[in-house]
Amino acid sequence: MGEAEHPLQAYLDALYLKYKPLSEGKLASYIPELAKADPDCFSICIVTVDGQIFEVGNADQLFTIQSISKVFVYGMALAEHGREKVLSKVGVEPTGDPFNSIIRLDEYSKRPDNPMVNAGAIATTSLIQGTDPTDRLNRMLDMFRNYIGHDVYIDMSVFMSERSTGHRNRAMAHLMRHFGMIDANIDEALDLYFQQCSLMVNCCDLAVMAATLANKGVNPITGDRAVPSHCIRDILSVMYTCGMYNYAGQWAYQVGIPAKSGVSGGILAVIPNQVGIAVFSPPLDANGNSVRGIKVCEDLSHQFELHMFDLPMGCSHFLQTLENKP
Ligand code: DON
Repeated sequence: MGEAEHPLQAYLDALYLKYKPLSEGKLASYIPELAKADPDCFSICIVTVDGQIFEVGNADQLFTIQSISKVFVYGMALAEHGREKVLSKVGVEPTGDPFNSIIRLDEYSKRPDNPMVNAGAIATTSLIQGTDPTDRLNRMLDMFRNYIGHDVYIDMSVFMSERSTGHRNRAMAHLMRHFGMIDANIDEALDLYFQQCSLMVNCCDLAVMAATLANKGVNPITGDRAVPSHCIRDILSVMYTCGMYNYAGQWAYQVGIPAKSGVSGGILAVIPNQVGIAVFSPPLDANGNSVRGIKVCEDLSHQFELHMFDLPMGCSHFLQTLENKP
């Protein structure tokens, strides 16, 4: 007789069937490669901090990580420079504007609002250290490899498309150079930003990356450290407040989990000390978030009371801590 299916696997299978028929949303179309994605592709993966993997759907389907990369490059910049230096170049305030907004980059603010919107992400990428562009790229790929647990590659056609169409990003980079927020060579910093967006991952890779953040920076499958543990609080804080573009406030209110989305249709979410969650489904809503991804995360949060402020768990933990004090 076969082993009984784990209840979490049964739940994910049911969740998949529930949202598979959803047909809302539009594919990103600013570059041809993203417009060619299969709108029916849908996968969910959960990885626990003790290394168990639960998946459903086309979890091996590769796609480019896009904006989700911003989380990890922010962690790398924090690890290399420390909080104060990074804060002097990139703030931590949610914008309430779309991810590619240029509106708040003006004489008054100068500093980009946060590392999860394009302006802040480009400034963050410009901080990555290395002797030359190849060294910086290799160091970044090493960082991603530690999170994912295997060799990683850049999708060259996506990179070339991002690079040749990214005029708005280029404009932001020039403005930030003018304001002194970027010291590095602009073209090199932009190339590295377009390369990080073009990193290829699948849904399981994303869940392992999320689980690594949940596991204080150590990949739960390989045991390799990807980021120092002292950076985790800062990374999760900006994910919580700024990770879902101009839906970030509603997300924090309704779902209550640190998360990050990307234009190719991925969402990565972190339940600290418990699990990493990833969903991939390319059709996006008006905010640029995966339609099925939002539904799945809402469902998971409600079903398992995963909201950060679902009080029963938080309260008892706090009281236990007090009781244990001498
Ligand atoms: O910078 C760009 O235009 C894209 N590579 C941004 C990627 C992304 O996922 C932003 N958001 N949804």
